[in-house]
Amino acid sequence: SKRLTTRDISAMRQRGEAIAMLTAYDATMASLVESAGVDMILIGDSLGNVVLGHETTLPVTLDDMIRHASAVKRGSRRALLVCDMPFGSVTDPQIAVQNAVRVMKETGVEAVKIEGGLAVVPMVEMLVAQGIAVMAHIGLMPQSVHQMGGYYMHGKDEASAARLRAEAKALEAAGAFAIVLECVTPALAADITRALTIPTIGIGSGKDCAGQVLVVNDLIGLSVTPPPSFAKPRADVAAIIRAAVGDYVADTKAERQPIPMPRRAE
Ligand code: KIV
Ligand code: NA
Repeated sequence: SKRLTTRDISAMRQRGEAIAMLTAYDATMASLVESAGVDMILIGDSLGNVVLGHETTLPVTLDDMIRHASAVKRGSRRALLVCDMPFGSVTDPQIAVQNAVRVMKETGVEAVKIEGGLAVVPMVEMLVAQGIAVMAHIGLMPQSVHQMGGYYMHGKDEASAARLRAEAKALEAAGAFAIVLECVTPALAADITRALTIPTIGIGSGKDCAGQVLVVNDLIGLSVTPPPSFAKPRADVAAIIRAAVGDYVADTKAERQPIPMPRRAE
């Protein structure tokens, strides 16, 4: 079956059909999550934490994103692919176009995602004008962790809620085809979902969004650190790996006793 398009995603939102999205960072995982039915795959800059072992997403480079998005593309056939624009890659409209064009040309994804509120509206408008599909991302924005002073829920007070509502409206008007709401209070996420025509894709934002995205490693328990509280693991893949590798190590050692030893020189 052919690959989903942004029009298919809009049609799902119009029909009231929920959208299931997950991250993937390589061809194997892309193929697996897609065969299990996800509509969209995000090559997230959570790559930095999950795959590259960084503390934050800040060190992730455009080349990192391009390498992994290309792998996901090769491993998938049906899901709509969205590649995160990493920290520092969309600092003005000209730079945003330059970098997003590289992503589009070199990876074959269908869309890019940009973190940010009103400040990124000119970048979204410019990319859309250049024919690039853009997913927006507001609320908790990991690329702004130092400026925001940590990871926490957004939209708790009226000033913050009003700002998020305005950002969502402005990003929709700028041409974004969907918007991630990360760690936005569930009631506000529901309000924003009702206020927009484009789909809201929630993460840690309750059930009343048009879709959900999760980091695949959090979902399947493929991690050595506890997942965020909103991501309830549905499997313990880390335990499966430890058990299989433990058996392998034990068998390899046991099956090789006694090991043929080199003959002593005469
Ligand atoms: O990088 C990422 O994985 C993300 C989300 C989980 C929304 O941006
Ligand atoms: Na991200």
